Amino acid sequence: MSIGLSIFSCSGEKPEIYKDPAAPIAARVDDLLSRMTIEEKVGQMNQFVGIEHIKSNSQSMTADELKNNTANAFYPGFTEKDIARWTEEGLVGSFLHVLTLQEANYLQGLAMKSRLQIPIIFGIDAIHGNAMAPDNTVYPTSINLACSFDTVMAYKIARQTAREMRAMNMQWTFNPNVEVARDPRWGRVGETFGEDPYLVTLMGVESVKGYQGEFNSQEDVLACIKHFVAGSQPINGTNGSPSDISVRTLREVFFPPFKAGVKAGAGSLMTAHNELNGIPCHENKWLMTDVLRDEWGFKGFIVSDWMDIEHIHDLHATAENLKEAFYQSIMAGMDMHMHGVYWNELVTELVKEGRIPVSRIDQSVRRILDVKFRLGLFEHPYADEAQSMTIRLCDEHRQTSLEAARNGIVLLKNDDVLPLDASKYKRVMVTGINANDENILGDWSARQKEENVTTILEGLKQVSPETTFDFVDQGWDPRYMDPKQIELAASKAKQADLNIVVAGEYMMRFRWTDRTDGEDTDRSDIDLVGLQNELIKKVAASGKPTILVLVSGRPLGVSWAAENLPAIVEAWAPGMYAGQAIAEILYGEVNPSAKLAVTIPYSVGQTQMIYNHKPSQYFHPYVDNKPSTPLYPFGHGLSYTTYEYTDFKLAKEAITPTESINATVKVTNTGKRDGVEIVQLYIRDRFSSATRPVKELKDFARVALKAGETKEITFTITPEKLSFYDRDMKWTVEPGEFIVMVGPSSADEALQSKSFIVK
Ligand code: BGC
Repeated sequence: MSIGLSIFSCSGEKPEIYKDPAAPIAARVDDLLSRMTIEEKVGQMNQFVGIEHIKSNSQSMTADELKNNTANAFYPGFTEKDIARWTEEGLVGSFLHVLTLQEANYLQGLAMKSRLQIPIIFGIDAIHGNAMAPDNTVYPTSINLACSFDTVMAYKIARQTAREMRAMNMQWTFNPNVEVARDPRWGRVGETFGEDPYLVTLMGVESVKGYQGEFNSQEDVLACIKHFVAGSQPINGTNGSPSDISVRTLREVFFPPFKAGVKAGAGSLMTAHNELNGIPCHENKWLMTDVLRDEWGFKGFIVSDWMDIEHIHDLHATAENLKEAFYQSIMAGMDMHMHGVYWNELVTELVKEGRIPVSRIDQSVRRILDVKFRLGLFEHPYADEAQSMTIRLCDEHRQTSLEAARNGIVLLKNDDVLPLDASKYKRVMVTGINANDENILGDWSARQKEENVTTILEGLKQVSPETTFDFVDQGWDPRYMDPKQIELAASKAKQADLNIVVAGEYMMRFRWTDRTDGEDTDRSDIDLVGLQNELIKKVAASGKPTILVLVSGRPLGVSWAAENLPAIVEAWAPGMYAGQAIAEILYGEVNPSAKLAVTIPYSVGQTQMIYNHKPSQYFHPYVDNKPSTPLYPFGHGLSYTTYEYTDFKLAKEAITPTESINATVKVTNTGKRDGVEIVQLYIRDRFSSATRPVKELKDFARVALKAGETKEITFTITPEKLSFYDRDMKWTVEPGEFIVMVGPSSADEALQSKSFIVK
């Protein structure tokens, strides 16, 4: 190995291999580790919130709020000066919630003053673009993206986000969230890829690949698959409440996206707030060590979630004090602590007392340093301010955001009113809390400059300039709507040719306690909040066609609207170009193609309602109305054209357990408009030694079809896709009959089926 002069220390003693970019990463890590004190090592395992964040919150928050409020934080008794000093002393490994390039470069400058000059890795929740920071491209939220079934788009968005992040000196996104969402009350459905393990897995893997790229350049960032695990089926729907779930269901439903993320090379993983079957995830050795490391071979590092190691002591009460909580978490497999001030002192003590072996600390520090070397932080600790805005919000990224929004908006119902005919509907009344609000950006977005956000009203005006839009403002807060404004909308509705009500949830983080959807914002109901239904009913009473556009993260059980209105669109939170994309769909400039990645139940009482339930789920259906069917099923979504499925065939009648089988189907666009159809393939194992779902999505294709065009689609059903955990929890293909279903949604009536035998 050639070692340049610069890597010799001043005393000329030991070559500083870790500073040599040409040296193998393992050698650099070894060398650096050999130079570090125990305090420096423990410091690498610690993450703090940024100094500006502390400054802005330290006056206004109490210690209790710190524990419970996940949007803001400060460290009681400590100031930003302490954090700055620790950074200069090399006792901080990472920061989160740093929102500007200037601050990131400033903090990095402090780290560069430290003895060993180990760079900081900056983490941020870049969930749909680096939207928590100003002046970045805001893409549609994950549930919206999932509804496009567009895995190529998932990769592209992640890749572009990585570039925008690095342009701000941020190198680690706390994304993708690969939890399988199974409860609409839970406020985080909107940041997931929905309810199906297969779809979530593919979306998650492409996101990891997009973020990390080759995992060795200045355009790559570290991905973080989260939250491990099963917080998406919380016992009462609230975030962080216990999850009590069988090992079978964990392995069948919740583990696959994580396992695939590990296989795709995800460099970090975040543990979940919740306890799992009595053991908090943050001290769960079975999860962190036995499954993740020993079974799946995870090579990256594990980071805790917000104050969740603390919560082992002060919430779950499985540790008598904080020091014990740190001990339990580290010994179970935790590598990095988000976030807090007592870690360095107490963990160092634990090591000096001999309770935590240095070798255990070294394992974690190695994993963290490895990532910092891979991402080139030692060579490029700063980002160039002059270049930053040439990358962020560039035309290419904006265009991607718009395209993704167009592809992810779901047309739920259409009784011939859409696409809107501007010559027929000359005067259109627009109302509802989301009609002219930035809330279309969704959770995990800060406010962005007005010129970078197209509201729905603005989009409508832009797309249909010949229409007179009459806007009746209902404020942004669904909980406090003014009855007078509802009356005003009702009376204006009568004068209009058509009405558009834009309803839904409120998700913007800057009004943390006023939200109705998003992180830590769970509901015991899934109908529209406040007077929104009243608004819809009163506007519809005008007798003029009234269409409903929903902006939300969770599925909403809008059963009155579904029965009484001619058209409903679930837009989710489509990002910065939401207004344009929604208007283009309403006016038919874009033919909608998205399909639901999550079931929409009628009511909260139907929870758990998922398409891939077990056979006995509705043996005794509810006796009240709409007993066992959802309002809208998984996979459902309409288009302005029609598709016909013909010639569905399986290549063989029988196969062996190690063989694959092909299924083919012809899909014809039988309407007058070009479109994209999302063709879905499900299987059912007819008889099995342990129960299996009535349907399991095993493949899909986004097929672009011109009007009149036919394409033949071939799906290959591999042994892996037929396998399941048998009665003895062995992953296997059991002989017997398999039913293959193909069609435009998971609803029985939408599917054609054929079967084959595994001999
Ligand atoms: C969330 C995480 C997030 C972290 C940092 C927590 O409250 O659960 O998903 O990455 O905060 O913002």
